[in-house]
Amino acid sequence: MPLTRKAYRAAILHSIADPAEVGIEASYEYFEDGLLVVDDGKISAVGHASELLPTLPTDIEINHYQDALITPGFIDTHIHLPQTGMVGAYGEQLLDWLNTYTFPCESQFGDKAHADEVADIFIKELLRNGTTTALVFGSVHPQSVNSFFEAAEKLDLRMIAGKVMMDRNAPDYLVDTAESSYVDSKALIERWHGKGRLHYAVTPRFAPTSTPEQLTLAGQLLTEYPDMYMQTHISENLKEIEWVKELFPERKGYLDVYDHYQLLGERSVFAHGVHLCDDECARLAETGSAISFCPTSNLFLGSGLFNLPMAEKHKLNVGLGTDVGGGTSFSLLQTLNEAYKVMQLQGARLSPFKSLYLATLGGARALRLEDRIGNLRPGSDADFLVLDYNATPLLSYRLKQSKNIAETLFVLMTLGDDRTVAQTYAAGALVHQR
Ligand code: GUN
Ligand code: ZN
Repeated sequence: MPLTRKAYRAAILHSIADPAEVGIEASYEYFEDGLLVVDDGKISAVGHASELLPTLPTDIEINHYQDALITPGFIDTHIHLPQTGMVGAYGEQLLDWLNTYTFPCESQFGDKAHADEVADIFIKELLRNGTTTALVFGSVHPQSVNSFFEAAEKLDLRMIAGKVMMDRNAPDYLVDTAESSYVDSKALIERWHGKGRLHYAVTPRFAPTSTPEQLTLAGQLLTEYPDMYMQTHISENLKEIEWVKELFPERKGYLDVYDHYQLLGERSVFAHGVHLCDDECARLAETGSAISFCPTSNLFLGSGLFNLPMAEKHKLNVGLGTDVGGGTSFSLLQTLNEAYKVMQLQGARLSPFKSLYLATLGGARALRLEDRIGNLRPGSDADFLVLDYNATPLLSYRLKQSKNIAETLFVLMTLGDDRTVAQTYAAGALVHQR
């Protein structure tokens, strides 16, 4: 017998495949009157309430929600903890934005009290927005990662993070050295990787801020720890790409820099990829690497429009990222709202079921965690959300006109935000209640 068993009754929706591969109808399961059964923090059953209720003991505790939709927790595949205090910084594109706003803001994270305070705000904000797993950039300071993991561990969250490695082309107050970044990253890996539901990611910021020596040592860490994640940025902004060509003239292009230092692989996530070419997409796919699509950031920083159809053509793993503070919202619903517009501007469509996939199962696949998160199949971690159809007067009125779950889902992604997330559960525990 499980120690704790609970059941949740509402409309239930989850992705089970990529619509680009199997078509829309085969990509999801929807139970209009559904039941989700959770045993000891894991999902043990999902299906129609009418079928599952008779199989359960009569005294089981059932939480019944009207006008609500249960979905898997959202997965944010790219976000910066130490940029929480500078979201919405005015006027600049990537390289000037980094120098003017980002680096000064990140400089404060050597201080434990500050790092603790922001880690707390950051995790509350993730959970308020329904994000139960994130792939997180710290600052250059190991303290930023320690504060984050300490807070995440208390709530038994599944989180991935790493200390930024940057040993050039940044202010003196914010650089490490190739050697210190290796030693500090290794100590963090030993302390945190695989502890509870926490994982570590080797985190070279981007090619311009690492020397060849540092990139070599980043690759060495991945060799020493074969189940390690790697996260960095790629091909976000045209000036950035020109700069990479100047710094690494002997390489074929931006991706080839990372490839040369052996940073591609099944647990490698590259943020943005707005200006990738066909060959680079093919190489990313071949190595099992993933892209984090960050539409609010790409629009806010004027970086460009990510070509999702090209990524699909190459069967590239793509997840969704907020990229806060380049992105302007912690909400993956709002991020999908912008993703839709990015596709519209390219004459393409983003179906609500592809959007759901990107925010859940697609992210889990990008992180190689699809057997644990991103869907509600039995055996998965019980990380899920209760979305409230009556979160705002407009949402409530608009959804009353909805004819089917496709329309409801699309409206949730267009009008929805943190207010839509009534409850967030992680490993079966209630971690946010609106
Ligand atoms: N490229 C290098 N660093 C950053 C960062 O902090 N944010 C974004 N959006 N791009 C980057
Ligand atoms: Zn970023």
